[in-house]
Amino acid sequence: MPKNLFLVKIGGSIITHTEKQNSPNVQAIDRIIGELKKLPKDSTLVVGHGSGSFAHVPAHKYKTHLGIINKDSRLGASITQDAAANLNRIVVQRMLKQGINAVSFPPSGSAIAKKGRIVSWNLGPLRLALENGFVPVVYGDVVTDKEQGVGIASTEEVFTFISSKLHPRKIVLATDVDGLLDKDPKIYSDAVLIKKVDARSIRRLLAYAKGSKKVDVTGGMHTKLLLLFNLVKKSRATGYIINGSKKGVLQNLLLGKAVVGTKVLP
Ligand SMILES: Nc1ncnc2c1ncn2[C@@H]1O[C@H](COP(=O)(O)OP(=O)(O)OP(=O)(O)O)[C@@H](O)[C@H]1O
Ligand SMILES: [Mg+2]
Repeated sequence: MPKNLFLVKIGGSIITHTEKQNSPNVQAIDRIIGELKKLPKDSTLVVGHGSGSFAHVPAHKYKTHLGIINKDSRLGASITQDAAANLNRIVVQRMLKQGINAVSFPPSGSAIAKKGRIVSWNLGPLRLALENGFVPVVYGDVVTDKEQGVGIASTEEVFTFISSKLHPRKIVLATDVDGLLDKDPKIYSDAVLIKKVDARSIRRLLAYAKGSKKVDVTGGMHTKLLLLFNLVKKSRATGYIINGSKKGVLQNLLLGKAVVGTKVLP
């Protein structure tokens, strides 16, 4: 089993300019990669990243998350897969520039889903890469789907599958807000941070979590929280939702320091 494994998602809302299609925020990508490098030496890392203004836009246009539903669906799925891969190349290239031996493992190449949930994926190569000192990079992607032909697996879904096989210790979802708040802070300036979610509070708190204002086919904070809670419950890892747009938050969390954010416990 990979030792002291961290799964860290860098939200598409951090690494892209969400208001402009296919626009990477290279400055933010470079800063957050610099923070990833602070991971303690005794730990291993799988990085995931979201799609922001890349794949969410064609996925929404062609309704790729709903599968093959009309004559444009196949071309739409291919365009969406290309958009996700393009952002992935940028992220990986920026990691290489900072000396991280990153290797992509695109779910679209080998995962099979059923209604958007991954049901099989040979993680042998990813695991071996991890054991040999590489940093595997995964991302929210188009996947083949047993029921609907194609589908979208969000990075959170990809992490759910990986967690069931690799048993991480910490799962960190970095996004563009401080964590889960009692309402969407992008709409309400008086929103209050919820510092902890657990089995007793999840049902009540899930009602606070809504979709995102930007083009988004995977459900924003609601699915993020739901998948993270289920994942933590099954894997016994600790989950965190933090603000990766603010300098130093991810780095401090990796270093084991107390940070502002939402902790998700089983
Ligand atoms: N109660 C809530 N607390 C916090 N954020 C919320 C809440 N309800 C809705 N949101 C929205 O959820 C968004 C974060 O989810 P979103 O999926 O957009 O980000 P991401 O996962 O970083 O991006 P991507 O899906 O491209 O990777 C916030 O920007 C916020 O607008
Ligand atoms: Mg999202």
